[in-house]
Amino acid sequence: MVQQTREQWGTRAGFLMAAIGSAVGLGNIWRFPYIAYDNGGGAFLVPYLVALLTAGIPLLILEYSIGHRYRSSAPLAYRRISRPAEAIGWWQVAICFVIAVYYGAIIAWSASYIWFSVTEAWGDDPNGFFFGEYLQMSETPGGVTGYVPAVALPLIAVWVVVLAILALGIRKGVERANRIFIPLLVVLFLIMVVQALTLEGATTGLDALFTPDWSAMLDGGVWVAAYGQIFFSLSIGFGIMVTYASYLKRKADLTGSAMVAGFANSSFELLAGIGVFAALGFMATAAGSAVDEVATSGIGLAFIAFPQIISTLPFGGSVFGVLFFASLVIAGLSSLISIVEVVVSAVQDRVGLGRLQAVLMVGGVIALVSVLVFPTHEGLYYLDVFDHFINQYGIVLAALVTLIVFGWVLRRLPLFQEHSNAVSSIRLGAWWKITLGVVTPILLGFMMWDSLRAELA
Ligand code: PFF
Ligand code: NA
Repeated sequence: MVQQTREQWGTRAGFLMAAIGSAVGLGNIWRFPYIAYDNGGGAFLVPYLVALLTAGIPLLILEYSIGHRYRSSAPLAYRRISRPAEAIGWWQVAICFVIAVYYGAIIAWSASYIWFSVTEAWGDDPNGFFFGEYLQMSETPGGVTGYVPAVALPLIAVWVVVLAILALGIRKGVERANRIFIPLLVVLFLIMVVQALTLEGATTGLDALFTPDWSAMLDGGVWVAAYGQIFFSLSIGFGIMVTYASYLKRKADLTGSAMVAGFANSSFELLAGIGVFAALGFMATAAGSAVDEVATSGIGLAFIAFPQIISTLPFGGSVFGVLFFASLVIAGLSSLISIVEVVVSAVQDRVGLGRLQAVLMVGGVIALVSVLVFPTHEGLYYLDVFDHFINQYGIVLAALVTLIVFGWVLRRLPLFQEHSNAVSSIRLGAWWKITLGVVTPILLGFMMWDSLRAELA
């Protein structure tokens, strides 16, 4: 374990941009709108806000506090708290490794779709085009039967960009990239949302999204969904925020930054809900069907429904498509950079490698696995399996174990509270320890139980 002088963020805004860049990702654009729609619409905002305030922001503060205090990547920081806790850090590193491998693939598809939006390559069959012509997905999983260069090339480009930014370091690479990415993302996305709002049927979509179903608030599953969205969306439980905060200067407003990052991420999420459902409302209206029949999320939303919408638009379809897919690419890249950084800095801290070496070796392995696995005819099957496993167990388990170990076994919450209070603008009171020590662990346990039950049903 070699201690080198640690890099630092150039400015407070630079750190914030990077933290927001990590949080704002595909989850905001293609996950939140449908989760909200499916879990009570307008009424979902209540559990969602409760989750943000009782778990999201408190956990962000905890991760910032750990990173800032120990100035090291997740495994080393935890080791400094208590030797065996290092294992939790490596579990998080493993999660980041896996996510990075497939997140890159989705960004590469989105990049291709920027171009396809102009050519409308999918014709009148976006579904057949995506799975058949473009991904050339095999009918059944199992075995590796071939490689698709049209998918591999943009994926290689994504990795070159990500590794180049990481190789430039925290200040010259990560910070500078995010200072360009985030404002650009906001501008492109805002234009897309405004365009969506002008479409016929937009209000139908917004009604479908926001009409509250208050009975949802009595449904435990809705609360689980709200906490799940907050965790995934704020990139909590992966060691990302520990890593990013390890590059903060001594003087840093931890609580203030957590509030800004948390609310910025949720604002973007709401904005995405508005844009996506305005567009879905248009799609439903054009097809003479109900929003219910077209509402969807994830791959189906981005690569099937949006292409449909783009082709159906009376004018400006290509512009709309370029704005949407460019937003996905930028939001995705800034998140991908943060998860690869977790792995890079963990290995750097452990082995004492220089930045360039670490990026080439660690990032190189991630990129290689990504490029070898995902452009095959079976790539999407692996992606589904990885994604399911990570979402259902990986993140929740890591967060739960972290809280039990640091909160109950080692009883370190008072120490982190004190540390945060020594530097932050907003002082943490007893409520912080209660949310992290009691409320959040119970909810996380409930989430684990809930997904296990669904698995066995
Ligand atoms: N927080 C990102 C989003 O909401 O899309 C997703 C994400 C980024 C998840 C980084 C996990 C991760 F490690
Ligand atoms: Na997010």
